[in-house]
Amino acid sequence: MSLSGHRSHVGSSEPSYPDDSAAPSDRTRPAEPDGPDGPVAGAAPARGAGSHSGSAPAIALRDVVKRFGSFTAVDGLDLDVPSGTVFGLLGPNGAGKSTTMKMLTAQSRADSGEITVLGHAVPRASKRARARMGVVPQHDNLDEELTVRENLEVFTHLYRVPRAHRAEAVDRGLRLAHLEDRPHLRADKLSGGMRRRLLIVRGLVHRPHLVLLDEPTVGLDPQVRQELWGLITDLRAEGVTVLMSTHYIEEAERLADVVALMAGGRVVSEGVPADLIARHAGSTVEEFPLEAGARADEIEERVAAAGLATRRTGATLSVLRADRIPESLRESLGRGNARAGNLEDVFVTLTGERVE
Ligand SMILES: Nc1ncnc2c1ncn2[C@@H]1O[C@H](COP(=O)(O)OP(=O)(O)OP(=O)(O)O)[C@@H](O)[C@H]1O
Ligand SMILES: [Mg+2]
Repeated sequence: MSLSGHRSHVGSSEPSYPDDSAAPSDRTRPAEPDGPDGPVAGAAPARGAGSHSGSAPAIALRDVVKRFGSFTAVDGLDLDVPSGTVFGLLGPNGAGKSTTMKMLTAQSRADSGEITVLGHAVPRASKRARARMGVVPQHDNLDEELTVRENLEVFTHLYRVPRAHRAEAVDRGLRLAHLEDRPHLRADKLSGGMRRRLLIVRGLVHRPHLVLLDEPTVGLDPQVRQELWGLITDLRAEGVTVLMSTHYIEEAERLADVVALMAGGRVVSEGVPADLIARHAGSTVEEFPLEAGARADEIEERVAAAGLATRRTGATLSVLRADRIPESLRESLGRGNARAGNLEDVFVTLTGERVE
């Protein structure tokens, strides 16, 4: 079963709720975790460039820096998230994905740089931006003592859904999460997958124009993951902008119109997944098992001398852009197992790090 069966209920085909409503406060905005606020990031005007549609990007970051003590978690980040796209932030643990997300909601404040969300400067006008955003945190913060229905109801209040629309918004959330048959179950009695579904639809009760999903499918089984992918695809079909962080290569490749590969608090490369793969890994990668006693370094040197990149995974050596292996090298190398290039190849090539 798929969450995608409820297309007409997801997005903007029905009237969205007023934009002047205030954003939810405490429940989605835990106290600033990193102490007193640093200097406030300045206001940035909405920009016309960088969007697929030519309209202003839904999110724009310019030279954003976030430090924790002497450690720089986000290091001069520039990012444009075009309106109406699913944008994937892909990077390993500690890359700065969640820190970036938290700055977009003013849960965390940049030390310097400019952030604009839905045309509003953040943090200065973050309330206005948050009223039109749905935020799904990496770490589950459902209210354990409340039922499924109550968890959704609380958010219709926090997001100022007009009274007349609240019941319908809750019912819609229950349907999207496939929890319509257990609205009275307490959150602490839900399975992991149910919790995650509830957490996500809770961020959609006010029909946001922009949804931030921080690691939406981490730790979920493949079926629930696919259901959530269906939901994200539907949001895009409805014109909702989605910024999603993930360290799952497949998730980014399948869902994201554009991905930014993040490492060490910076974007190392950005683009349409297929373009990034073509540019940095090539369409075909060949994998060569390293037999016992094989001198991997020597093979790597020979491949490098032919101008090709390699990566090692356990006892396998992969040669990128395998369609360009010259005949002279073929003779000594033989023929490996061909597979399609992927974003992990791109990532490893650019950073030397693995994503997962
Ligand atoms: N409040 C904090 N105080 C100190 N260091 C922090 C704080 N929050 C994050 N960091 C550090 O900043 C870096 C980036 O963390 P962040 O949570 O943004 O990474 P991430 O890309 O979301 O990783 P993951 O995939 O593990 O969720 C990490 O080294 C982390 O330890
Ligand atoms: Mg994170």
